[in-house]
Amino acid sequence: IKSIGVLTSGGDAPGMNAAIRAVVRACIYNDLRVFGVMRGYQGLIDNDIEELHSNSVSNIIQSGGTILKSARSMEFKTQEGREKAYDNLRKRDIDALVVIGGDGTFTGARIFGQEHNFPIVGIPGTIDNDLYGTDYTIGYDTALNTVVEAVDKIRDTATAHSRLFFIEVMGRDAGFLALRSGIASGAEAVLVPEVRTDFDQLEHFLQNGFKKNKTSSIVLVAEGDEIGGAIKIADKVGKEHPEYDVRVTILGHIQRGGSPSAFDRVSASRMGLSAVEALMDDQKSIMIGLANNQIVHTPFNQALKNKKALNPQLLEMTKILSI
Ligand code: F6P
Repeated sequence: IKSIGVLTSGGDAPGMNAAIRAVVRACIYNDLRVFGVMRGYQGLIDNDIEELHSNSVSNIIQSGGTILKSARSMEFKTQEGREKAYDNLRKRDIDALVVIGGDGTFTGARIFGQEHNFPIVGIPGTIDNDLYGTDYTIGYDTALNTVVEAVDKIRDTATAHSRLFFIEVMGRDAGFLALRSGIASGAEAVLVPEVRTDFDQLEHFLQNGFKKNKTSSIVLVAEGDEIGGAIKIADKVGKEHPEYDVRVTILGHIQRGGSPSAFDRVSASRMGLSAVEALMDDQKSIMIGLANNQIVHTPFNQALKNKKALNPQLLEMTKILSI
């Protein structure tokens, strides 16, 4: 391998820049040329590609977003789109790719890699932390801290007015962000898609709290929760309990931005370096991950086929600690 392309695809996540930086610097250190592909797979199709140098990635480790921009390309889902992408890679003599993103990104990489026998290594970058094969995805820790900071602020006003807040967090169809931020912010309850919402139990927690003269209650709701998000749940609880002064906050895309945490910067740097080393070692169609603080490799097939489970101990803990 002489030349590597790098791209970010799907929803951006804080720490993607740190990963790009690590890929670029690791390539240069190993005398490989490195090319940045703009707007994910769409940039491959549009030939929006430029060579990167060590100083192209100076001063970006601390920035959120992605200097390569991101997109969800519909055209890459077609064979014609992928043919164009392959031609552009060949024209520039790029012989391997590092793709940074989530399951959509790896689905594209798996198909493209097979179709053209092209070496691709993935780095997990998503605030959702929903990828099998890694304990942590890049961006998750930063998003977690953003949520906790926001919930702490909401707690102040909730307490001042003795209110019940339903706070909706991102995560698509996974509850990792909701579960951990719920524990870290001392939420009275956490509702996640992985567990059926038990309204009786929720009411029990809330009533218990108000009986004990709790001056506020916070329920964290994952956006993918089966009931359909915080607004619907708040509506139901508010109707059944007019005595509660209910409010809803949807945190939204604030969770995707901001300067990456030290943890995300270090993980991204480790994964970026390992991705380049894996390609130099002739590996392909694998995702780099962190398991028990060690770098591990998981084939795309496995990473995409398996569903990462929420930690049952953490789930149980939310109940125990909110009595
Ligand atoms: O996958 C990251 C994520 O932020 C999810 O948590 C969320 O459901 C989705 O992306 C939002 O996508 P968009 O930015 O396209 O609205």
